[in-house]
Amino acid sequence: MILITGGAGYIGSHCAVEFLKDGFDVLIFDNFSTGHREIIQNIQSKYKSAVFCEGDLRNKSDIDNLFKSYKIDAVIHLAAYSIVSESFNVPEKYYENNVCATINLLNSMLENSVMNIIFSSTAAVYGEPLYLPIDEKHSKKPINPYGKTKLMIENIMDDYDIAYRLKSVRLRYFNVIGADYENGLGEWHDNETHLVPIILKSALKNDFVFKIFGKDYSTKDGTCIRDYIDVRDLVAAHKLAYYYLIKNQISDVFNIGTQKGYSVKEIYEIIVEILGKKIPVEYAPKRNGDSAVLLASAKKAENLLGWRYKKTLYESIKSAYEWERYLINLKASN
Ligand code: UFG
Repeated sequence: MILITGGAGYIGSHCAVEFLKDGFDVLIFDNFSTGHREIIQNIQSKYKSAVFCEGDLRNKSDIDNLFKSYKIDAVIHLAAYSIVSESFNVPEKYYENNVCATINLLNSMLENSVMNIIFSSTAAVYGEPLYLPIDEKHSKKPINPYGKTKLMIENIMDDYDIAYRLKSVRLRYFNVIGADYENGLGEWHDNETHLVPIILKSALKNDFVFKIFGKDYSTKDGTCIRDYIDVRDLVAAHKLAYYYLIKNQISDVFNIGTQKGYSVKEIYEIIVEILGKKIPVEYAPKRNGDSAVLLASAKKAENLLGWRYKKTLYESIKSAYEWERYLINLKASN
């Protein structure tokens, strides 16, 4: 059985379905701090075998109970806080929930002889790029507390490998977008901060104006450039990473991105085109902790995992749009 922490969240829920589709026994664990019960219902209505347990990784007894109650073979660890701006304002929340909770999880794994983990890391571990595209060897100097917590966890995992031979594959995600809306899954944050859903929400709800943070970055149009990867491609990488880990029994790290960069302005313009309507926009000051450009080299994942992204940006944004409409209807009917 595979334990997926944070399985009621955006990426975790897609991950759960990816493994369930392939016939894996999946145990989803979540505390609903940012995840949603409706997502678990959507998963369980299609996949009756999916098991769900509510609990918090900060309580070690919650995790110990999981390992006692189920025969867990491997862990996919996604439970974390992930909002860069919030991580500046309340860093302790990030160090406790991301770092301390992961130590609980790793210790409980060791105590129960579960020695394989896939971990959701981030492009934010690199900080300001010294060269592009960023490969896994790039120096790691995170410029925000969120990125620091993820790098700390990666370092802890290295030390647990040396000391205990606990093997981890870390996937450094770039900017994740899109939705498996047909299965009732998508990005659902109560306080949305991410670019694509923010633009879609402002277009569909018309109750706030979308703001572009910063217009004088040293990029072609002055706005930040990011590498947008579809969540459905991202979770496919998790499955390949799982097979890689089980087969080779080595710890490793992979960037997951497309190696294509789009500026904030370009994303906005593409959404305007897809929706076929004007979306009000204004410029606002730069956000703290934003790099000008983040662009992945995903060659290593291509070579060693046999992974490559498949979805076009258009398909990803279209799916995010369908999901946003689903969400608005869901909220209206509640
Ligand atoms: N942006 C705006 N206006 C908004 C929201 C975002 O201009 O209302 C801009 C940001 O300034 C940034 C870009 O859109 O330039 C993307 O911002 P997101 O908030 O969507 O994503 P981030 O790049 O801040 O962060 C995401 C994940 C992190 C991860 C990072 C790695 O949320 O967890 O990608 O690239 F670390």
